[in-house]
Amino acid sequence: MLELINVSLNLDGDKGQVEILKEINLTLKEKKIYVMTGPNGGGKSSVAKTIMGIYRPTDGKILLDGMDITQLGITDRARLGIGYAFQQPPRFKGMKVGDILNIAASPERETNVCDLLYDVGLCAQDYLNREINASFSGGELKRVEIASILARNLRVAVFDEPEAGIDLWSFQKLTETFENLNKKYDTTIVIISHQERILRLADEVILVSNGTISEITSQEKILGEIERLDSRCDCRNNCSLGGNINVECDR
Ligand SMILES: Nc1ncnc2c1ncn2[C@@H]1O[C@H](COP(=O)(O)OP(=O)(O)OP(=O)(O)O)[C@@H](O)[C@H]1O
Ligand SMILES: [Mg+2]
Repeated sequence: MLELINVSLNLDGDKGQVEILKEINLTLKEKKIYVMTGPNGGGKSSVAKTIMGIYRPTDGKILLDGMDITQLGITDRARLGIGYAFQQPPRFKGMKVGDILNIAASPERETNVCDLLYDVGLCAQDYLNREINASFSGGELKRVEIASILARNLRVAVFDEPEAGIDLWSFQKLTETFENLNKKYDTTIVIISHQERILRLADEVILVSNGTISEITSQEKILGEIERLDSRCDCRNNCSLGGNINVECDR
């Protein structure tokens, strides 16, 4: 459905061009949930922004249902049904929450704006008529942003660390919302996340590090690896035992 073929990305850094993504090959299928994970600075948000058209690849191609969209900008890709919820959402200052959601809402989905707010753990009567300004907390803003993506009738929806800054109750609601979105619509969902609870939603886990996809794997394998890491000697222990990772932990 969405294909990235040999996608590379160079951007202008402080000291000239920096290689951000290297020959990314990725095929996303309809109605699947993908969780993209990996170390900080590995390139996850850059992959998402390249899918959305915020960054144009230096090399390679992006296809949507076989159509080459590599040269299309953000607006055209949005029209074709690609959506991205930013890791750090911009503030649409001066607009009411209800207006933002109504602008985003797709007529095909007959979305109720109050339901959307509920899905991200916000109470409609408190937020619908509230104007977005500096008084919004990071978590509130993040949830309005996620709701605006949920409002749209998308082919591919990418959520960049939706859990960041979100309280436990809203997080629980959000994981249910992703599951329901997946059950109800054909949208392909990509969630960038470091959270085990989100990893458990994945049909496939995409590991991104050093600007490449190092592995496409199952949630079981990744969760198993996390468990193994957990049971290994921890840094403090290793250090007090002379820094040898193979030394038996005394615990
Ligand atoms: N516009 C830019 N100019 C220069 N370098 C950039 C730019 N955007 C990203 N980078 C660099 O590219 C690398 C990948 O960044 P990216 O934001 O994609 O990582 P990430 O995997 O999303 O990390 P995190 O888990 O911290 O969100 C980082 O080293 C970052 O500093
Ligand atoms: Mg990121």
